[in-house]
Amino acid sequence: MQSGKKISGFSKLSKTEKIQWLAQNFLYSNPIEVVKDFASFWHDNVEEQKVFEGFSENTVSNFHMPFGIAPNFLINGKDYAVPMVTEESSVVAACANAAKFWYDKGGFKAEVIDSVKLGHVHFKYRGDGVKLKSFFPQLKSKLIEGVKDLTANMEKRGGGVIDIELLDLTKKEDSLYQLKCSFETVDSMGANFINSCLEDFAKILVEEIQLSPEFALKEKDVTVVMSILSNFTPDCVVRAEVSCPVDQLGYFNDGSMKPEEFAEKFATAVRIAEIDPYRATTHNKGIMNGIDAVVIATGNDFRAVEACAHTYASKDGQYKSLTHCTIENDVFRFYIEVPLALGTVGGLTGLHPLAKKSMELMGNPKAHELMQIVAVVGLAQNFAAVKSLTTTGIQAGHMKMHLNNILSHFHATEEEIEKALVYFKDRVVSFSAVREYLQLIRTA
Ligand code: MEV
Repeated sequence: MQSGKKISGFSKLSKTEKIQWLAQNFLYSNPIEVVKDFASFWHDNVEEQKVFEGFSENTVSNFHMPFGIAPNFLINGKDYAVPMVTEESSVVAACANAAKFWYDKGGFKAEVIDSVKLGHVHFKYRGDGVKLKSFFPQLKSKLIEGVKDLTANMEKRGGGVIDIELLDLTKKEDSLYQLKCSFETVDSMGANFINSCLEDFAKILVEEIQLSPEFALKEKDVTVVMSILSNFTPDCVVRAEVSCPVDQLGYFNDGSMKPEEFAEKFATAVRIAEIDPYRATTHNKGIMNGIDAVVIATGNDFRAVEACAHTYASKDGQYKSLTHCTIENDVFRFYIEVPLALGTVGGLTGLHPLAKKSMELMGNPKAHELMQIVAVVGLAQNFAAVKSLTTTGIQAGHMKMHLNNILSHFHATEEEIEKALVYFKDRVVSFSAVREYLQLIRTA
């Protein structure tokens, strides 16, 4: 059954025409009003609006998200106020709390372990595998030589093609082989560079096999299935940690929870996320609350970072926590190891006005420094979540935010907010309970 709403040339319509079409076909509202609604989120400056529209296709409006700041981050002895873009309440506040908590305990230490990116040419070769393997060294030098025009600039910046390996996957899929290519892309995320190199490798592979007298005619029929970077970058990894003597952790729950008890409970909570995939998923989601927020604020690809983080969390055969905690010789140590393929040049980072501002706020870091900041934020976010879970419970903080949001919805005054915070300290917060309470004090 066709509903008659198929359209050709939608992309060619102006913004206003697109909205009018939506109003007529899907919203069934007055097109003038619908245009007004969507247009109310357009940028006042037409040129700026064009910049936003250029990021994607078929744009009809802009979707605003809060741009917040988590101050008080001390990372490798340097101060940062970290920009975070997230729609989830409590995330920025929790992250900022964790940053402040660790500030006086020496802050965070972070290091990039490696920054290798990967890509593959997947191809089918139906000939003699031994022949292909012995031909590979000669092919490899042709492949590297063949992309010199693409790699020259990257090499000047300290990057380029690191290695190419031939993988035989014929036991898993008939005739399937792979060129596994590793790259250093320095300050760019490198997707375009890698994909361009891979597509050239694929052409050269086919040409070289066809030209070589070593292969029989029937062996020359190589099919390239696809050439694409991998978002799984297990060797593009950052490690970040915090540590302090257990007694410096302080007391929790209004002084009733001693530092040793907190440390033990916290470490057990992390251990649970190491052994139970159900908890690990939520635990890592909390880490990604922080990581994604900075990745988005800097115009990086959060889907790539997410996909990679979760594959990395399963690298030992079971999905596990990305963070770990030890207590040894009365020292509490909490650390994260996370793959982060980030760029500070190219992509949206240099185009989106607020991504540029984010970079400026952090002192225009190079990719390695940005990787460290992002890993630290993931660790801080997780510290805050697990601290809440093992002390007051998560709802206390959430409910306070929830209460604030409802109070702001009802335009509560400073005085009303103060009263409501006291009143709801031990009561269940709900929209109707807050409305009734405000009615009560407003009519008293
Ligand atoms: C909520 O967005 C994230 C948490 O559930 C993470 C966690 O449980 O560790 C609080």
